[in-house]
Amino acid sequence: MTNNVQESLQLKKYLLIDGKKVEADKYTNLYSPYSGEKIAEIAMANETLVKEAISAADKAFPKIAGMPAFERAAILERFVALLTERSDEAARILALECAKPLTFAKAEVSRTIETYKFAAEEAKRIHGETIPFDASPGGVGRIGYTVRKPIGVIGAITPFNFPLNLVAHKVGPAIASGNSIVLKPASQTPLSAIFIAELFQEAGLPDGVLNVVTGSGSVVGEALIHDNRVQMITFTGSPAVGIGIRNKAGLKKTTLELGSNAAVIVDKNVEIDRIIERCVMGAFSNQGQVCISLQRIYAHEDIYDELVEKLTAATKQLKIGDPLDLNTYISALISKNETERAVSWIKEARQQGAIVLTGGETQEGILQPTILTNVHPTLKVSCQEVFAPIVIVNKVSSVDEAIGHVNNSRYGLQAGIYTENVNQALTAANQLEVGAVLINDIPTFRVDHMPYGGVKESGTGREGIKYAIEEMTEMKLIVWNQNL
Ligand code: SIN
Repeated sequence: MTNNVQESLQLKKYLLIDGKKVEADKYTNLYSPYSGEKIAEIAMANETLVKEAISAADKAFPKIAGMPAFERAAILERFVALLTERSDEAARILALECAKPLTFAKAEVSRTIETYKFAAEEAKRIHGETIPFDASPGGVGRIGYTVRKPIGVIGAITPFNFPLNLVAHKVGPAIASGNSIVLKPASQTPLSAIFIAELFQEAGLPDGVLNVVTGSGSVVGEALIHDNRVQMITFTGSPAVGIGIRNKAGLKKTTLELGSNAAVIVDKNVEIDRIIERCVMGAFSNQGQVCISLQRIYAHEDIYDELVEKLTAATKQLKIGDPLDLNTYISALISKNETERAVSWIKEARQQGAIVLTGGETQEGILQPTILTNVHPTLKVSCQEVFAPIVIVNKVSSVDEAIGHVNNSRYGLQAGIYTENVNQALTAANQLEVGAVLINDIPTFRVDHMPYGGVKESGTGREGIKYAIEEMTEMKLIVWNQNL
């Protein structure tokens, strides 16, 4: 551990409200999901403290909303420079708090830096349009234009699986567009959120624009949802919680990035050697704890045997172990409960006729990367979001049949199709019921400026900085009557 990481982890972690460290009356120990070691003590905010954070954000809103775009961009640029300087430390914090293997943690830090760079750039191009009023006889003699206005206090509730970059997808566009934020990070991953907020202070973000309130979802989340000063909730997490937020949010805006059981179709004639590495990465990176993790593969019968054999062989090579070891590919899931849940889903699948091609067991508390075949669509490993290193491979006799299986889902975030056939690709692009179709790629593809979001129970709204800014701003129309 570097001295910086050691020092930051030995400290008790306070709330960050109005630019100050604030004590809570209760603290909880945070443990590494891999080693079980205590890594920090985290403040548990009560409702009064959440309200204090909302008041601070409310008070800071006019400051950030009135700040010229170039200054908001400059703060984001300074932040990018600071995070770049401290990127190794950030990666080690991720490895400790969520057991993300260091190689993937470093990749997340690089993505996070890019996400904030996009935010700095987008801050300078938020604009409206002129309206041709004379298109209607009633509009003759009027000119007008729209502008985009920040909406106010945004409540951001973030998940544990990409604790830096999914915070960036909320904090970056909020600051870029002149909003203030109360951030509630996932209970298991508060350290990276606090680290980020401290860097923003150093970068010159005015006090109160970004407040970090750690604690339980039922206290902090509920207080954010029910406070009228909060104009929007942006949430990434489970469908059950997301639907609950939507039901309680009233007139608040909501962006909900929820889960999925993402799938890829592999057509006949595809060169299998060219797709194995991508499929392994899609299914097993971050232990499968990715909303667009590759959970279902529908393989044409002509290439099924080759795919299964090569995928199994490649999966058996993956190194399981300590997230701080650069050679580790698979480490612990976020909690013992999650490991037990995933193991019980595999057990249920086995009992119902599924065949385990590799994995299926735990090894020193870590679930092995697991491939199942012959899986009935009603089994949990197929129809629910598995969020663990488990992928199913089922045989199909046509792309049309595969499209039917992909669409037979509560979810619709992203889907992929590998095919040599342009018509099949276009049919899939047209018929797959998802937010994005990836042709000749896995569904796990994401770069941070693309629109990202789903249909069905995968959520509403879009992230990707430019698109999140649209969600976080309101259109305002100005009309000038020249007839007077
Ligand atoms: C997610 O799990 O929703 C995010 C995936 C990603 O950003 O790569």
